[in-house]
Amino acid sequence: MDAVEVIAAKRDGRELTGAQIAWTVDAYTRGEVAEEQMSALCMAVVWRGMTRAEVGAWTEAMLRSGERLDFSDLARPTTDKHSTGGVGDKITLVLTPLVAACGAAVPQLSGRGLGHTGGTLDKLEAIPGWRGDLAPADMRRVLADVGAVVCAAGPGLAPADRRLYALRDVTGTVESIPLIAASIMSKKLAEGTASLVLDVKVGSGAFMKDPASARELAETMVAIGTDHGVRTRALLTAMDAPLGRAVGNAVEVAEAVEVLAGGGPSDVVELTLALAREMLEAAGIAADPAAALRGGAAMDVWRRMVAAQGGDPDAPLPAAAERRDILAPATGTLTRLDARAVGVAAWRLGAGRARKEDPVSPGAGVLLHAKPGEPVRAGRPLLTLLTDEPARFDRAAEALADAFEVDGPGGRLPLVLDRVG
Ligand code: URA
Repeated sequence: MDAVEVIAAKRDGRELTGAQIAWTVDAYTRGEVAEEQMSALCMAVVWRGMTRAEVGAWTEAMLRSGERLDFSDLARPTTDKHSTGGVGDKITLVLTPLVAACGAAVPQLSGRGLGHTGGTLDKLEAIPGWRGDLAPADMRRVLADVGAVVCAAGPGLAPADRRLYALRDVTGTVESIPLIAASIMSKKLAEGTASLVLDVKVGSGAFMKDPASARELAETMVAIGTDHGVRTRALLTAMDAPLGRAVGNAVEVAEAVEVLAGGGPSDVVELTLALAREMLEAAGIAADPAAALRGGAAMDVWRRMVAAQGGDPDAPLPAAAERRDILAPATGTLTRLDARAVGVAAWRLGAGRARKEDPVSPGAGVLLHAKPGEPVRAGRPLLTLLTDEPARFDRAAEALADAFEVDGPGGRLPLVLDRVG
């Protein structure tokens, strides 16, 4: 095989064979295909796309580059959720113990935040003592004992994707539906879950800005999962405004705990229940997640899950040292609060990181005093910015300069736009 031939074939719009794809991904992982050759191929894929057979072969090649976990010996059926990433998305924190409380085993391998979208591991690490870097044997023990575990994907899962994602990140080739689908699904299939629900976000705070491209991504991922024998379905959900009323790390944990206690913002509750119903149905479990949330069973699993991973569920969460309010400019109805801008502000306040190795500030973030559709009063707090370093306030406020509108044309996306699979 010759990398230049493979690149030229894709450049000219031809379909690559399974053998060409398997060889290219493997040779890249071994260092035989050079970074510049792989970046040229990725750019050709961005322009030319891939067929269903090509995406399947690409996913399979990345999956084969590492280990594949197997939980088929567990007494409970396994099911998992993956979100394509959003702002204020703390759903995993509630959903994982909730679905476990209904009888499933939920092996949730999560990531850290990069850029304006937060990461579940960063959020949970705000809990004193909590650790997400579990060895495979510890992960299996927590999953078997508690039914739920949230931990970091080890370096052995789809290592080709790890390397390729870093390359795509610096070559303008992240925004390709086949490459995103193969990247996400290779990691999810390596995780060994029997069923999978994808939460594909749509809107300013998401990768996919419009429903048509989100649907295409969802259909591509559902097809890959189905072809690999994993019961896979997807919901397309709104990310035009942040989810809930807290964006950051500790503040999102606090909001998730409110939901587990039976309260919390209605959009977080509604989306958690919609995803829980999909996961339970995919796992073949007839249970009512609303009852498990109301009756406290999900909270019990949360407390056991946090404790099993070294955390103290009763410890006070870290709080930011400094706060500054952003005031509503007028009295009326808030018609727009841009998810991406709020995510960027939280990131600039210290809740997120610019480089993989940067630390995050657990207390930093943004609190929302109104959501689109709610009334606001001129001069009253609309948002509260939280940080440990007051020098960060101005840059965060700049990100929010055009982020909201009072009595504008409005028009929010419905929370659940569509379902695939
Ligand atoms: N998330 C991933 O894991 N991979 C992508 O390509 C994009 C988002």
